[in-house]
Amino acid sequence: MWEELKKLREQALADLQAVGCSESLFQWHSSYLGRKGALTSLLRSVGQLPAADRPAVGQEANHVKLALEQAHADKAEVLKAEEAARSLAQDQVDVTLPGRPVSLGYLHVITQTLREMYAVCSEMGFQVYEAPEVETDVNNFQLLNIPPYHPARDMWSTFHTTRPGVVLRTHTSPGQIRAMRQYCPEPIRLIVPGRVYRYEAVTARHESMFAQVEGLAVGKHITLGDLKGMLIEFARQMFGGDRRYRFRGSYFPFTEPSLEMDISCASCGGKGCRMCKESGWVEILGSGMVHPQVLQNGGYDPTVYSGFAFGMGADRIAILRYGIDDIRGFYANDLRFLQQFA
Ligand code: FA5
Repeated sequence: MWEELKKLREQALADLQAVGCSESLFQWHSSYLGRKGALTSLLRSVGQLPAADRPAVGQEANHVKLALEQAHADKAEVLKAEEAARSLAQDQVDVTLPGRPVSLGYLHVITQTLREMYAVCSEMGFQVYEAPEVETDVNNFQLLNIPPYHPARDMWSTFHTTRPGVVLRTHTSPGQIRAMRQYCPEPIRLIVPGRVYRYEAVTARHESMFAQVEGLAVGKHITLGDLKGMLIEFARQMFGGDRRYRFRGSYFPFTEPSLEMDISCASCGGKGCRMCKESGWVEILGSGMVHPQVLQNGGYDPTVYSGFAFGMGADRIAILRYGIDDIRGFYANDLRFLQQFA
């Protein structure tokens, strides 16, 4: 047994010398010190020796075990240092390399357009008024002179909700009712921006969700001249002085008289092209003098007060400013399109 222990110790230490990586060190440990390892088996057989020999042999066997464990720990240390040095040499990090720039976000082109519209309107004394996108049928239609089953409802193909009498607003005009009821009898000068929804086929010029900016001025002695002057000044600031503008008589149930405003087409300079349907003009907004019944619905006495209102599509305005030929680009989330406006 003494002899065997001595040989085992020599053999184990010699094998350990040859170990060159953590994996073979693990195998070395299993074959000598593991549960089925050579030393462990030898230790187990100490019990079968004559009782007189057991203490001394047992003690020696434990010495060998401790020595091998110590040698294993030392070797593990050495291998770890070697492996760390190798990895440092191989996987060098060049701390002087310039970092990759973090790409910062930017405002969506419609948000940029809306903010410019706010800025122009605010210089003329208009404040921003917020109104909800989910509206009652009463505010969206009835108080704007569009009773149920009235043919004018066809002008605003509507998304209805599962709750009767509640719709996704088809225009920002219900904001007029909310604002008048909130501020009556004070004079009003505000814009109501936001998303509107229409159950319409999506085309290059029509979206089912788009942004509108409503304008409303209510007070004493407000005239159609004020409306036209305000809109021309607004358009000049948004599009520059070299575009031409025109007003056409139109119809909206909530304004009387009603006007639509056109701007000369930027793509063809007014000569006629696909963009303007060969007319040389592109419609940008609907407007008019607030109908006396609507003023009354808002709480104002139409014999004392008058007002003007307008509603324009922010998407159309962006299209016209940037010469875009398809509205669908705004919401398709294609960065190649959107980054042009960064
Ligand atoms: C209205 O929505 C009226 N509420 C405007 C108004 C307000 C008139 C106050 C009088 C007084 P209209 O449906 O024409 O009107 O829409 C107004 C503008 O929204 C249009 O001139 C156009 O610029 C834009 N627009 C309308 N439909 C779409 C659509 N499907 N996609 C994108 N923009 C649209």
